[in-house]
Amino acid sequence: SKEKIALFTIFGGTGDLARRKLYPSLFNLYRKGYLQDHFAVIGTARRPWTDEHYHEVIADSLADLDVDDALVQKFASHFYYQSHDVTDVQHYITLKKLSQKLDDQYGLQGNRIFYLAMAPNFFGTIASHLRSENILTPNGFNRVIIEKPFGRDYATAKELNDQLSATFNENQIYRIDHYLGKEMIQNIPAMRFGNQILEALWNHDYIDNVQITLSEKLGVEERAVYYDNSGALRDMVQNHILQILSLLTMEQPANFDEDGVNAEKVKVLESLHQYTSDEVSTNFVRGQYGATDTVTGYRQEDKIEPDSTMDSFVAGKIMIDNERWSGVPFYVRTGKRLKDKFTRIDVVFKQPLTNIFQNLSAENQLATNVLTINVEPEAGFDLQMTGKQVGQGFATMPVNLHYQHDAQELADSPEAYERLLHDILNGDATNFTHWHQVAASWKFVDVIQKYWDEHQPEFPNYAPGSMGPQAADDLLTRDDRQWVYKD
Ligand code: BG6
Repeated sequence: SKEKIALFTIFGGTGDLARRKLYPSLFNLYRKGYLQDHFAVIGTARRPWTDEHYHEVIADSLADLDVDDALVQKFASHFYYQSHDVTDVQHYITLKKLSQKLDDQYGLQGNRIFYLAMAPNFFGTIASHLRSENILTPNGFNRVIIEKPFGRDYATAKELNDQLSATFNENQIYRIDHYLGKEMIQNIPAMRFGNQILEALWNHDYIDNVQITLSEKLGVEERAVYYDNSGALRDMVQNHILQILSLLTMEQPANFDEDGVNAEKVKVLESLHQYTSDEVSTNFVRGQYGATDTVTGYRQEDKIEPDSTMDSFVAGKIMIDNERWSGVPFYVRTGKRLKDKFTRIDVVFKQPLTNIFQNLSAENQLATNVLTINVEPEAGFDLQMTGKQVGQGFATMPVNLHYQHDAQELADSPEAYERLLHDILNGDATNFTHWHQVAASWKFVDVIQKYWDEHQPEFPNYAPGSMGPQAADDLLTRDDRQWVYKD
């Protein structure tokens, strides 16, 4: 049977993440049969809710899914609410009793999943209480799920990790990076290691540069307080962008599994070229959007400091100090209030050394071979090639090979959180961020952040609806290159 057995305890059960992502994902796992009779969920938060009210919240969170009411009720009946102050020992004792009771009632075999879906400053307290009040079970599995941000620099990440490690082993800790749950991000290893024609060229001899763009159209929305204490570098580069980069650049693991992938990702992340302060100023660009007649500027947004120097945009050139990638720049960029919402990866190959068609006509140019991995909103890839024009004579032209996943199939496939929860139930952490990856990523980012903290930016410096400040384009033109995606 595909049924998984577990008790979920969600800290932050009244929160936005739980409602928007976790409850719908759990429901999808339920209706697909991964969760059946042997599961229960304890939602905890400070508010004094009743189980009845909690069930209404669960049902509300599923309203968009267009499903049978009876099934929703049956699903919601597995949910229990416990008002909980994470610093109060007494509450953990109550939690333990409730957990044991539900374990007996639903036959949960001691399997526990703790989801920390709340402010990260409480993670340490929760983890240590789970240990001191003996809430972890000796018989089944115990797994803990951590949302980002995992620290705000290496030092705080290490402190958090030490706190978690006092209760959980590394193989019990699942650090979520929801980009690792996206279809086309999961496709990167398939494309690389499933195609000799790509893997044979996947190095500095044949690749000129790689570009990673995570573009957002919206501003900071309701997360201003968090964002103005983070900025784009910490919010997107340290995690999502460096994770994508590691999948694109890691060596081939012996097997495609958690240990293999983790070990290779760590190696490449530890090989990122560490910049000196001088190098930061020439290789990393930060930006902050201004105002227009119709769009509020970053500094005018609600709950943002009016003189904030936080970056809502970052672009950078990342180099990798190893044999395979020697001399190949990885240009990355991400920001809020850009032209459009999309994520894409452009792998730009080197040109053939000679063009034997030019003696026929000066117009016979060779196209640059570019492999574009479209992550979102479309999911698929394009390969730009040179071909011959139809007809008499010999004229070259660029041609494009295009593959796109079927939109309906994609819409019917599990959303990132559902996939990741399913992986956790299976005990598979391949698509999660292991500690040594987090550590290496922060060490790389810290140098940049430190330089920025010590130097005042001239903000605002880009217009909403653009692709960021001019300096982000100059980063490439300086190297005689340009962004494949231009506005
Ligand atoms: C989150 C960031 O990790 O990713 C947000 O904190 C950002 O600032 C979001 O908007 C983007 O995710 P997605 O899936 O919409 O591309």
